[in-house]
Amino acid sequence: MSKEATLKLGEKEISLPIIEGTAEEKAVDVRALRSNTGFITYDEGFGNTGSCQSKITFIDGEQGILRYRGIPIEQLAEKSDFIEASYLLIHGELPTAEQRSRFSDRVRSNAFIDERMHLIFEGYPSDAHPMAILSAMINSLGCYDPHLATNNREQDFANFDEAAAMALSKVRTIAAASYRMSTGQPVIYPKRDLSYAENFLHMMFSQPYEDFEPIPEVTKALNMMLLLHADHEQNCSTSTVRMVCSGGANLFASISSGVTALWGPLHGGANMAVIQMLEEIHADGDDGSRFIEDAKSGKSGKRLMGFGHRVYKNFDPRAKIIGAACEKLLDKLGVSDPCLDIARKLEQEALADDYFIQRKLYPNVDFYSGIMMRAIGIPLNMFTVMFAIGRMPGWLANWKEVASNPKTRISRPRQIYQGSVLRDYVPVEQRG
Ligand code: ACO
Repeated sequence: MSKEATLKLGEKEISLPIIEGTAEEKAVDVRALRSNTGFITYDEGFGNTGSCQSKITFIDGEQGILRYRGIPIEQLAEKSDFIEASYLLIHGELPTAEQRSRFSDRVRSNAFIDERMHLIFEGYPSDAHPMAILSAMINSLGCYDPHLATNNREQDFANFDEAAAMALSKVRTIAAASYRMSTGQPVIYPKRDLSYAENFLHMMFSQPYEDFEPIPEVTKALNMMLLLHADHEQNCSTSTVRMVCSGGANLFASISSGVTALWGPLHGGANMAVIQMLEEIHADGDDGSRFIEDAKSGKSGKRLMGFGHRVYKNFDPRAKIIGAACEKLLDKLGVSDPCLDIARKLEQEALADDYFIQRKLYPNVDFYSGIMMRAIGIPLNMFTVMFAIGRMPGWLANWKEVASNPKTRISRPRQIYQGSVLRDYVPVEQRG
């Protein structure tokens, strides 16, 4: 195939280079289009726009493929764990035993947050959303270690490993502390001998005189859930992190913007929205059938939360893995919950319904992660926080990729202006 595309604009023809990825993805490079023709490309929502070239994560939405650094998510979910997958995403290779242990130690030894941060937690009202607290606190981390947050790209990049270990470790401590504070419980400090997921559960659920005893199946499920969320190429929050980094912002500022971008119900907030939807259906005495009709009509503004994906048009490979793990966990825990029965019914009905089939709407990872977290006992308003903990390695890897590239330019899209072209200012007393 030719390495150039030809675009005809009126009488003018212009050649545009074609870029090919390692998995044979193709793109027309339009960077010179504006300077050569005055035209820009228009793609609201960026559904067909490549914003970068990346070596981190590969997705083929048509075939339901997700790979971290080339390794299929199915293999990682079965054989690896969250910390190892984090190393892989951030550093590009699976760690040797020694690298793995050093990385783990570094994460472990960064689990504590500065004591003065607890004073900030206390200033929040008890019903403050933990996502708001999380993004503010992550950004604040840079205030306590200003040498890691200089907004000088070379310097911040040189200190990346230290800052990344802090972010990966402290996000969990901040998350658990915000929950404890919001429920009026004393903060529980991390313990050195616990694994990443165990430590989180300990900080969430232990009591001052009674350590929480995590059930191994719960720890395993949580670990896998975090791993499945660890990266997902150019989604809304990761693109946000890259964009903020492109302006030269430090690591903590960039990833805190990732947290806020993740918060919305169409992105990371969907796991919370799934459970809210199930509770609403249950409270209405519906078994799910009425809700599906409402979601199809579109009149009510309702959507079947946890269904559909911008990229996956066949199935979400993460949903397959977590769906099976979720069933196993529920069996193990002997959980009986009417919302879970409704979820099963919704899934069955939607998968057999023409509306969803034609639009290629399948359960996404959030459909099951919400159910799994509910079974583990994670409170509803912490669901999106859990997603943020899981996505941290992806944000870190993407920040590193942008910051390490000397050719990085500030992200600055164009627009098509549709407002008044030119009009005079009218003094207030003359306005009608
Ligand atoms: N329920 C009902 N109808 C839906 C749903 C849904 N969950 N999702 C999409 N549709 C319909 C739309 O109404 C539209 O129908 P139309 O062609 O008749 O107008 C069609 O399917 C295409 O939908 P878009 O909104 O254009 O698809 P887009 O790619 O922009 O959105 C998204 C993807 C945001 C994930 C969407 O499917 C959605 O809102 N899903 C529910 C929220 C959710 O689960 N989000 C989590 C995403 S995964 C993640 O962030 C981890």
